[in-house]
Amino acid sequence: MLVLGIESTCDETGVSIVRDGKEILSNVLSSSADIHEKYGGVFPELACRRHIDVIIPLVEEALQKANITPEQLDLIAVAKGPGLIGALLIGMNTAKGLSIAWNKPLIGVSHIEAHLYASMMSSDHLPMPALGIILSGGHTLLVKILNVGEYEPLGTTVDDAIGEAFDKVATLLSLPYPGGPHIEKLAKTGNSKGYSFSSGKVKKNPLYFSFSGLKTSVLYAIKGKELSITEKGDVAASFQEVALQDIAKKAQLALQQFPASAIYLGGGVCNNSRLREIMAEKFSHLPIFWPPMNLSADNAAMIAGLGAKKFLNGTDPLDLEVQTRIPIA
Ligand code: KG4
Ligand code: ZN
Repeated sequence: MLVLGIESTCDETGVSIVRDGKEILSNVLSSSADIHEKYGGVFPELACRRHIDVIIPLVEEALQKANITPEQLDLIAVAKGPGLIGALLIGMNTAKGLSIAWNKPLIGVSHIEAHLYASMMSSDHLPMPALGIILSGGHTLLVKILNVGEYEPLGTTVDDAIGEAFDKVATLLSLPYPGGPHIEKLAKTGNSKGYSFSSGKVKKNPLYFSFSGLKTSVLYAIKGKELSITEKGDVAASFQEVALQDIAKKAQLALQQFPASAIYLGGGVCNNSRLREIMAEKFSHLPIFWPPMNLSADNAAMIAGLGAKKFLNGTDPLDLEVQTRIPIA
């Protein structure tokens, strides 16, 4: 079975061809991060203009790299949400156009569920029930996974997403956007006990996250000061440690609520090596499924992979709508 997947929820346009839900024949991506850099965050209209420019050339490139013709495809899968409305509409309408032109069925999948599925795609055995942790630029989510497609949300963020907090602290330290990888690199040079920041707690919701207070503490710690590179390293390391330990602590609390057989993670922040260390230390008794490095951040292979899995339950009509907000699936 050959699936063409399309991703366009935010600032990345991706097209991928996946065979039998697992084998990635091509996975091409174009990011508009370069144009958002000077704004310190995604500028939706500019992201949309870039999606329009690159999406069809990326479809052609994905087919060419996979050495596949449109006739050979079995399904078009698209990220139906959550995301920026204009960006989603470009991916959705491209998918619908291709579905009509090539006479192939269409399926819409959740971008968040696909992030989680990226850690499951290559395994035949998926222990369940399990804890799912999604850590990206737009989402911070703990979920109980009963099965692929069956989730119970446990906790989310009340303000910034974890990746967004990394990006905002990076901006405060005059690092490029997106800042997560730059914070990680700088943190390696610093002392994580250099600054005493603390994580956010949400009243009556111990599994919920809040990162805006942490970000503000960083702002006040450095405001008006000319920091040396060593001090910047300490700020980055101290912030990163508190933010990541907060994820691990809340994951530990979530695991007290039900007998989980594994942990599955997804989202761009999963590329952080300190996060991988902390999780391995804290949860050595459980199998931890990480997305491969090339499938952590936004990509279309996870959309095609999940599309293949969902195809077993049927396809979507051509009046399928985008959804800017989806809790998970
Ligand atoms: O999953 P993703 O590509 O996009 C969303 O769906 O939001 O995640 C992007 C986020 C950005 O905030 C980026 O700074 C963060 O993931 N990120 C990282 C690292 N690599 C990417 N954060 C911390 N450490 C990293 N190594
Ligand atoms: Zn994403």
